[in-house]
Amino acid sequence: MNRLSTDTRIGVIGSGGFTRFSVEAFLKVSGTKISGVFDINPQNSKSFSDKFGCKVFSSEEKLLEDTETDLIYIATPPFLHFLQSKQALLSGKHVICEKPAALKAEEVKELISIAHEKKLLYAVNLMQRYNPLFSNVKRVIEEKFLGEFLHGYFENYASDENLDEKHWMWDESKSGGIFIEHAVHFFDLFEGWFGKGDVIASQKIMKEGVEHNIWPEVQAICNYGNRLVNFYHGFHQADRMDRQEIKLVFETGEIILFEWVPSRLLLKGLVTNENMKAIADLFPEGELEIVKSFIGKDKEYRSHFVDRQADQKIVLEVGNNDLKSTIYQQLLTDMMLDQIQWIKNNNHERRINQYNGLHSLKMAEKAERLAIKL
Ligand SMILES: NC(=O)c1ccc[n+]([C@@H]2O[C@H](COP(=O)([O-])OP(=O)(O)OC[C@H]3O[C@@H](n4cnc5c(N)ncnc54)[C@H](O)[C@@H]3O)[C@@H](O)[C@H]2O)c1
Repeated sequence: MNRLSTDTRIGVIGSGGFTRFSVEAFLKVSGTKISGVFDINPQNSKSFSDKFGCKVFSSEEKLLEDTETDLIYIATPPFLHFLQSKQALLSGKHVICEKPAALKAEEVKELISIAHEKKLLYAVNLMQRYNPLFSNVKRVIEEKFLGEFLHGYFENYASDENLDEKHWMWDESKSGGIFIEHAVHFFDLFEGWFGKGDVIASQKIMKEGVEHNIWPEVQAICNYGNRLVNFYHGFHQADRMDRQEIKLVFETGEIILFEWVPSRLLLKGLVTNENMKAIADLFPEGELEIVKSFIGKDKEYRSHFVDRQADQKIVLEVGNNDLKSTIYQQLLTDMMLDQIQWIKNNNHERRINQYNGLHSLKMAEKAERLAIKL
């Protein structure tokens, strides 16, 4: 970073739909400024610059040469991410790139090594791990408040209302397909909870009756230390019916998270008084209901081949679906703040570092490679 500036001056490459939303969130980090924008579509650059009051650059090269830019934020379609990240790093700029990191994991390894050599920031915007619900669920898993994790699923019934047949998302040479373009968020989330996973089977379904080959539905079964998780993504819903559920089933209960940026959590389970208190403390804003209390012999039960005891059956609810947009903005702000703290002090441990983009892409690549085409 230029020593004269304590601000972080962000140059933007690609000012389409998502950038308008993300940049608003980035600007909430004190000391961030937008120094300039380059978009291949001059109208997009202009309307972005009108909104955020920054310079318009006539080429990517000119933006990368700008001495008043410290960090490049890339939000173009995925097939451009590798070369644009590489050029930006080689020009001495820090890089935050939208997901996916690239179309191939091998390319990401190269980016990581350039960033390392040049002591520059390199991160992919996989912001899900900044969600407080992510951290609290991680505590439930690690402290075994509901026993061992047994099985999980993610069901993503997503909107395709604004994705017409010609959208770059359906051209797999541009997007990499749904596993690479979208599922990386959730491969990263589950790795954060359960450690490294492996894809053991996958499928994708082609939409019939359209001009181009379009694959709007994909599914993968993944193994996390002999625990299976099913991921389904289908882009076929109306905007108003866009909905997601993550379900984590444990030996003595379950957690359901709603929305793709999890905004509401439902926890159900059989617990001891001690674990009930621990759960209540973890979610102080949650509404905890004791569905049933057990006394004497009634406390005894058996699950997953083990004799156990419970004092209560509980249901806990936290958050609501309407918070999605507010939480989404907060995750983006927190991601940017975390990355900037690393730029200022390389000893700062980031929640998302250069490896998240690589690991999530490796999983997505394997899911794509194994996919049986239906
Ligand atoms: N992290 C998230 O939650 C999240 C959410 C949505 C989208 N995204 C990612 O953001 C990226 C952009 O998605 P979007 O929905 O904004 O797409 P978009 O199509 O709305 O915007 C892409 C922009 O890139 C521009 N562009 C294309 N080629 C370019 C080039 N060579 N140089 C400069 N600009 C170029 C286009 O003109 C357009 O303005 C994708 O990688 C997507 O996966 C991330």
